[in-house]
Parts: sequence; structure tokens; C-alpha cells
Amino acid sequence: MSIKVGTVFNFSQLPDVSKFPFVINKSNKRSPVRKGLFVHTHSEEGYLIGVIERILLLNEYFSDALTIKAYNNNNNPNILRGLFPTEEFESAIAIVNCLGIIEFEEDGKEKNIKKIKRMSYPATPGAGVFLIEEEILNRFLGLDPLHGLHIGKIKGSTHEVKINMDRLLNKHFAILSISGGGKSYLTSILIEELLSREEELGTPSIILIDVHGEYSYLEQIQALQGKVHVQNTSYFQIAVPKLNAWGFKKYQDQISNVQVRELSKYLENIRKDKELKGTFSISHIIEQIENDPGGNKNTKQALIGWLEELNRLNLFGTQENPNMKELLKQGEITIFSFQQEINLRKKQIMLDYICNRLFYLRRVDKIPPFLLIIEEAHQFCPEAAESKAISKSIIETIAREGRKFMACLCLISQRPKKLSTTVLSQCNSKMILNIKNPHDLKHLMDSSEAITREHANLISSLGVGEVLLMGNAVNHPIFIEVRERKYPSSLESISLSITCAKWTRMNN
Ligand SMILES: Nc1ncnc2c1ncn2[C@@H]1O[C@H](COP(=O)(O)OP(=O)(O)O)[C@@H](O)[C@H]1O
Ligand SMILES: [Mg+2]
Repeated sequence: MSIKVGTVFNFSQLPDVSKFPFVINKSNKRSPVRKGLFVHTHSEEGYLIGVIERILLLNEYFSDALTIKAYNNNNNPNILRGLFPTEEFESAIAIVNCLGIIEFEEDGKEKNIKKIKRMSYPATPGAGVFLIEEEILNRFLGLDPLHGLHIGKIKGSTHEVKINMDRLLNKHFAILSISGGGKSYLTSILIEELLSREEELGTPSIILIDVHGEYSYLEQIQALQGKVHVQNTSYFQIAVPKLNAWGFKKYQDQISNVQVRELSKYLENIRKDKELKGTFSISHIIEQIENDPGGNKNTKQALIGWLEELNRLNLFGTQENPNMKELLKQGEITIFSFQQEINLRKKQIMLDYICNRLFYLRRVDKIPPFLLIIEEAHQFCPEAAESKAISKSIIETIAREGRKFMACLCLISQRPKKLSTTVLSQCNSKMILNIKNPHDLKHLMDSSEAITREHANLISSLGVGEVLLMGNAVNHPIFIEVRERKYPSSLESISLSITCAKWTRMNN
């Protein structure tokens, strides 16, 4: 049985087709009615579903200045309160934003939704307003209460939000907020859920680019043993034989087109070298150029200079490390910890290589479907006007084409405005935590028509751990209170004072 929470009435020129007001039932218990709650009423068109967008408290007794003055002037307000039961004059009113008319299947199974129609007639004054049953709400929102990823509760209610994994990962998604808004925390919740899915349900493998070393703690969690692999990027190595001349130009932009052509020839020769058997590094190429009696001296010198500069990055070798083909396992996560690396260009080169290899291997079906999570994504695929990034082109390619090959991106950023618009507009689902910067909000509204001004206002007032989920993952945008971590991070308990005290102990 649905729980009645109020009655539709006429208030400030409502109900109209898109909104209706209702008086909230008074009872001894605390009313469950809260902003953001989903309710329904029976209108002439049928089962009308809506979401509460405002709650007002009215008290006629306190609408007149003279009465309030008299009330306050009295020495003992309790006597007056006894004479005038002011609380009884109070009424709570909710304004509901109508979302649609639900048509159910006709076979008596009331909870199966057949279709959702637009409203064309207002709600009926006098009709009851009810809480929506969990089952109907799950279906209306497109949630997956049996196997979904449990990320929290609908804000202001006890309704659990379990997102359907396919709907979230079929198209890319983004997690956006100011710094400290709870992006990494929410990401760790998603990882917890993906890693604890039952094997039969099917889970992609996860690769995480951990810029600040915030996720390495997962490796220590007993329940996730064997499923978390942290890659220390000090041992990261790009296989030189897998690069062509244009690949070198990508990593060293100053190599000219003429030099690229020369480099192609040297690469071709070196690949034919029987002694090397296809395993060579940058120093082999340099040797080959130096030993070449012919060729333009200037071109050769410049080329050697650029190759030496690349070699100093300490990234290039004869073989790749880790082996990308062996790296990914379904239902497991590989974390590339970039924490020790301060050179942004080097980080971009590593990410570019990782993305290129994984996307290639996925296209030829040599590795399982994957979810690639990139923290600080604006550093790796910035908007053109902002700055250049080596890894931008491949991230944009995966954003455009990845879906066909089940290669899903999750981009995390605190500066949506600095993130490539191409990539952001391909992120169909968005998880938006608190964003205050008006430029970022405007950029978001420009990149997705689903974000209204009303949403933008709400986004700027969200607390830590409150998120707006919208896009392909759900049928209708919802505000969610993110649940607590099952497996807390040891970093959570480290404060400035604890670190200072420890430092003193160690250094005295
Ligand atoms: N849902 C939540 N529940 C409890 N604490 C949270 C939640 N979300 C974020 N926090 C806390 O807020 C702080 C900032 O979160 P974090 O995820 O690091 O933000 P961001 O990655 O957006 O900079 C952290 O201390 C984190 O523990
Ligand atoms: Mg973070």
C-alpha cells in the first residue's frame, strides 16, 4: 500500500501542467516529505509522477506584523500560546515538479511500466499524494536493485541507489567537482562495487591512472586480495620497436617532417638487422645514425639531439614494462601510480602509450573489455585553447570510438572547463558533485542540455559526498548521498598534526 503524504490543492496559480502544490499531512510522526523526494498522485491522465522541488511553511498567524509585535511584547508568551494555538495555523506545502504519466502493463502486474508519457493536463486538486513504492521508482529511474552498483541513497530518503553497470559503462562517464568535493571517494566506491561483483555477472577489467597515489591502499585490503595490482611507474618502459617515426615525433614535437622521414629509413634498416632480432632501443637508433656515412649531416645531428633528449626521460627500452597484453584480468584492477612523477610531459607520454596499446589490443580482442579511469583528466586531454597534451588525441579517439569495442572511459576532473569539449560531450553519464565556479557550471550546461539552470543552482550548494547523477545511467537525474566506504583508506586518518608529530619523532 502506498503511504499518503498529502493532498493536492490550489496555491499561487498552481496546479498547472508542469507543477502541482500539495499540503503535507500533519501527523504525530515526523513527515517523510523532503526536497528531492519522488511522489505520485492520480490525475485525470493516470499515475502522475513528480519530484518535490520546494517546501514552504506557512503560518497565517505570523503573516501580520502587528500580531507578531503583540506576541513578542507579552511578558509571558506561553500564556498567549495557550490562548492562540499558533502551531495549528502552520501548514507545510510542497511544490512538485511533474515528470510524467506512467502507463502500466495491462496484465494486472501493476509494477511493470509499459511507457511514460508527457503530461498534458494538471493534477486534480483534492487528490491524494503518495510516496512511490520502491519497485516502481526503481523501474522509473532505470535502477538495478538486484545486481546494480550500490553507490548510496537518493538524497533525503532511504531509497538505495543501485546503478545498472551496463547502462553506466556502455557509454563513457565523467566525475566532476571542485577539489575536495568527493570525486576520489566516489571513485573508490565504484571500484569497491565493481571488484565485489559476482563473477557470473561479468565485470570489465579496470585500469586506473592514480595521479596522487590515493588508491594504493586498495592493495592492502584483505577482502580484495589478488584483485588489486599497483604498478610503480619508476619501472615503466615503452618498447621502442613498437614505435614508428611518427610516434617519436608525437613524443618529441620538435622533430621536423624531414627528420621524421630520415628516422623512418633508419628504423626500417634497424628492423632488418638480423643480430638485433627486432629488439632495439633509442641508443641503437642513435648508433645507426652515427655510423651512417651518407645522409645530410645537419639532419642527422638534429635527429640525434632529439632522440638523446627523449632517451633522458628514462622511459624507453627494448621491451615494454609492464606487458600490456598480460596486464588486464576481468574483475581486477591495475593502478598506475603516478605519484612519484613530477614531469607532466613524462606522465602524458606514459598515459599516451598505455591508452594506445590498450585500445589497439582491445580492438583486436587480445584483452578483455576495460574501464579506464583517469584522475586529473584535464591534465591529459585539455581543451585546445588551454594547452596541448601528448595524450589528448588518443583519449579523444577512445572517447569517440571506444564504445564499439567496449573500452569505457571514466574521466575525473576538478576543472571541467579545462577539459576537452569533444571528450566531455562523449561522456554520456555524469556524476557531478559540488561545483562553485560559474565558468565551469556554464561549460557543463553548454556540453549537456540535460543540465538546467535549476540543476546548476543545486550543484553549487551540494555538500561533500552529495552527487547529481545524470545521463545514460538513469532515466531521470537524481541527487544521491554517496555511501561510506566498505574498506576505509589509511590516508583518511592522516592529518597535518599527526604527520608533523611523526616527523618530529623521526628527526629528533
Ligand atoms: N561520501 C563521503 N563520505 C564520507 N566522507 C567523504 C565522502 N566523500 C568525500 N569524503 C571526504 O571528503 C574529503 C575529500 O574527498 P576526495 O574524494 O578526496 O575529494 P576530491 O577527489 O574531489 O578532491 C576526503 O577527506 C574524503 O574522505
Ligand atoms: Mg581526488
